[in-house]
Amino acid sequence: MTELLEEQRESWGTRGGFVLAAVGSAVGLGNLWRFPYELYDHGGGAFLIPYIIAVFVIGVPMLILEFSMGHFTQRAAPNAFARSHKRLEFVGWWSIILGFVIITFYAVILAYCFSFLWFSIKGIVTGGELPWAGEGLTGVENAKSFFNNTYLGKIDGPSLGNIRWNIFWPLVVTWVVMYLCIFRGVKLVGKIVWLTVPLPWLMLLILTVRGLTLEGSIEGLAYYLNPDWSELTKATTWRFAFGQAFFSLSLAFGGVMITYASFLHRKSDLNNNAAIIGLADFGTSFVAGLAVFATLGGMAFVTRQAGHPVAVQNVAEGGPALAFIAFPYALAQLPYSAWFSFVFFFALATLGIDSGFSITESVLAAITDKTGWRRCVVLPVISIVGLAIGMVYITQGGLNWLGVVGDFIDGTWGIAFLGLLECITIGWLWRVDVLRRHANERSDWKLGKWWDYLIRIFTPVILCSLFFWSLFDDLTREEGFLRSPDGDWILPNCVGLSVMILVPIAAVLVSCARGRGDLERRNSSEMNLQAKGQFGGTIALVLAGASAVLIMVLFRFAVEGRHERLLLCASLPLPAAAVIIGNHLLNRHNKSDTRASRLARWGGMLGTIDIGGFIALCLVYSTSKESEHAAHPPQEQLSTVSYVILGAVSLLIICGLGWCFYRALSAANEDAGIQHPDEVGDEEQETDA
Ligand code: PFF
Repeated sequence: MTELLEEQRESWGTRGGFVLAAVGSAVGLGNLWRFPYELYDHGGGAFLIPYIIAVFVIGVPMLILEFSMGHFTQRAAPNAFARSHKRLEFVGWWSIILGFVIITFYAVILAYCFSFLWFSIKGIVTGGELPWAGEGLTGVENAKSFFNNTYLGKIDGPSLGNIRWNIFWPLVVTWVVMYLCIFRGVKLVGKIVWLTVPLPWLMLLILTVRGLTLEGSIEGLAYYLNPDWSELTKATTWRFAFGQAFFSLSLAFGGVMITYASFLHRKSDLNNNAAIIGLADFGTSFVAGLAVFATLGGMAFVTRQAGHPVAVQNVAEGGPALAFIAFPYALAQLPYSAWFSFVFFFALATLGIDSGFSITESVLAAITDKTGWRRCVVLPVISIVGLAIGMVYITQGGLNWLGVVGDFIDGTWGIAFLGLLECITIGWLWRVDVLRRHANERSDWKLGKWWDYLIRIFTPVILCSLFFWSLFDDLTREEGFLRSPDGDWILPNCVGLSVMILVPIAAVLVSCARGRGDLERRNSSEMNLQAKGQFGGTIALVLAGASAVLIMVLFRFAVEGRHERLLLCASLPLPAAAVIIGNHLLNRHNKSDTRASRLARWGGMLGTIDIGGFIALCLVYSTSKESEHAAHPPQEQLSTVSYVILGAVSLLIICGLGWCFYRALSAANEDAGIQHPDEVGDEEQETDA
């Protein structure tokens, strides 16, 4: 097994510093800006089912995987993957490059936040109105016009137009702030997050209390929570739930959690920290939704009273529109609007800034780990390149492109796909049992063997079925995917797909370049172990290969509208047998001196993908083609089910966090599995190695 580097790596000061930094990365614009709308738009309370599955069944175990990889290898994502298997470095670079694509537009949204923060401060200082204030539906138009015309100078269509210099300067401020937060290394980050994490929570609390105490807030909550169960039969609902969960937990792409864990002290807890981060992130999203929709409900009530009614559905739009049009408009209808607008944008900016610098830190660590170049040289270069690429998004047509790239990255092709790749490669090609033991040795509570199967089989099957289901959905759209029925190219999809294809190509090229990682790879003795189980492996691979062909044929039929149920039933036993054989061989032969044959590992891996394909086919057969999104029916009262959802979710968050802190405290009392800042230099022998 790969030996641990015993070099002295920089380390977080305290356990709290690490947990807060990881929470800071997870809790960001995605929680306050995206989650409430995703939930509203995909079935209200019903969306919580796929979302909770995504966060707790898939997300938290994957967080543990990323933490243990980073902690075990003490390397950022690319080198962590390289040390697990010599050819996997590109997976790490894939996530880093995707992270870099994201930070270029994430910084632009942060720049919007800084601008609106500035407008709010001006509103407070001058004692006057906010520039977007207005009454009734005309007021909504005012707010839209302020954001789209006055601020963005927006033009429709694919052309970019001129650069908006009024956004350029806030963008420079954003990059400078991120630079200042990380240029001194993670010790400083560990201190800054004591401010950037609790402060927005306080602001969010203020907004929530204010929202919930407004008359009419219940009506807003009804829009947020009343479930529409039919949404659960749609591929997009599940895709958005998983995309949002991965984005929100900073999982898979960006490699942030691997990098942050690589700076952890050798004795730090991993499992409990992952659970705390998952719960804190979910809790923040849920509470943010309450704040946003309660305020929109209050706005609907006030405008009705004033005789110029604006309903919640008149303003609740997704993406930037919610944060920069609907919510500012709603606040402008209420007393002390400039103050509360300040609180909102301050919360948004501070929530986003630590997520933003976490990606930058991850890119930085990946480059310095690979090249050995100094931080003080690499960081300014990353910042300037990021700023330069961001210029595309601050043009008049920039927001359209920001949406396209964002949708692709969170959609079928982005995060969940990378998560799938991460689990399947680590699960089958490396040894998750080693990572599990590594995590267990230092954690407040232990994982069972079930975790190995979760990472190796269950998670890839779920992500794979989602991937194929969504892909099928994309490719069979009536309006076309890359070309419209009239034969015209659909430019945004072509560009989005090209970016998604270029990223892995770039990742492979970077991973082929020589670097410090090569030395570490050569040190790895893993590959020299004797391979066992060739015969069983051959059978597994043949079975999985046959079923792959069958499933591809069935997908082809499905595109033509033919549903061959009998053939479908026949296509499950083959991959199931391949997975069982592959898994058995892995359990039997992955020992300190032997290794399951390559055939067994690839057979199991392909079998897992096939099962995902099989489930996707079942979903394609059993769900109807998606209709256009139905308009939201008017809501007045929270239904009984919504009260149950509200109670159950609150209980889950409170009891979950209570249990995690109880375990952490008990462990601290026993002086086990907890980080001691003064033991940073402690040398530890890795028994697994
Ligand atoms: N989790 C952040 C949010 O919810 O806004 C976004 C993010 C940060 C994604 C860092 C990925 C990442 F690596």
